[in-house]
Amino acid sequence: MRRVLSGIQPTGQLHLGNYLGAVRNWAKMQHDTDAFFCIVDLHSITIPQEPGAIGRESLRLAQMLIAAGLDPEVCTLFVQSHVREHTECSWLLECTASFGELSRMAQFKDKSDRQEFISAGLFTYPALQAADILLYDTNDVPVGADQRQHIELTRDIAERFNYRYGETFVLPAAVIPSAGARVMDLQRPTDKMSKSLDSPKGTIDLLDQPDQIEKKIRSAVTDNDGEVRFDVSNKPGVSNLLSILGAATDKDPEELASEYSQYGPLKADAAAAVVELLAPLQARFAELEADPAETTRLLATGAAKARSIAAATLTRAKSNIGFLPDS
Ligand code: TRP
Repeated sequence: MRRVLSGIQPTGQLHLGNYLGAVRNWAKMQHDTDAFFCIVDLHSITIPQEPGAIGRESLRLAQMLIAAGLDPEVCTLFVQSHVREHTECSWLLECTASFGELSRMAQFKDKSDRQEFISAGLFTYPALQAADILLYDTNDVPVGADQRQHIELTRDIAERFNYRYGETFVLPAAVIPSAGARVMDLQRPTDKMSKSLDSPKGTIDLLDQPDQIEKKIRSAVTDNDGEVRFDVSNKPGVSNLLSILGAATDKDPEELASEYSQYGPLKADAAAAVVELLAPLQARFAELEADPAETTRLLATGAAKARSIAAATLTRAKSNIGFLPDS
């Protein structure tokens, strides 16, 4: 079975775009791969966080992910900071990546443009991400297209390390989902629905109640030619509604378009489909929220499993470099 690993930051709410674009796919993949999902809390502190918040958010994200279908009995779900090997391996990889490579990362340029205080960790972020991936001999990394550059860098770092110190790491590949499930912001339909966009009316939170979902979809930006057609470049708003309805009901958005002649009914059906899609997830989340100790226990099991693999890989890497053994 192929080893799959992906990571997700615990900051900000999960939204419909995360679910339809990534998490729902992860939940499917866990059944026919050896899947690892990592809540990357160490990555979150590359940007200052309010003291105490990160742990609460990690627990909540774990509950959301389980509610959304990740089954800790089937996949390995864990919190990055619980497995110390990530930080240690990250140092080895920082020394394998070059300053120039890290300087070229688009996510760094983008995030550092938006920060007053640019931490050194924000700069070396991709080396920690490479550690997340390489510690588990990962074959496939399911991520959004914006992460392709980081996965390519991970591959380059692994290759360079293997060349310098001998065969150590498996070379991973990015697995980018086809465009179908790209969910855009409801108010700015040319931008991806995003945690960092700060567009509450354009983002459907996975815990939004039916009336909020209906309201957000009813006020979604469309256009004024009045024609229902799937045409992402000329009709981004309408196409986004068709994509959402299609993803929620497992139908093809182009075919759906022919069933509508007005925006009102399309919006009503899209809202109803999203409400129905999220209802079971919200019910499961409420159960998990009522019993936090259960999720904590599941995460401890996940971390133990992750640690046993990560420790073996790190030992191999250190031994190949040739550090003096500590015993
Ligand atoms: N950088 C990723 C993002 O912004 C999150 C991430 C951290 C990740 N470690 C990872 C993704 C390992 C895949 C594999 O979305």
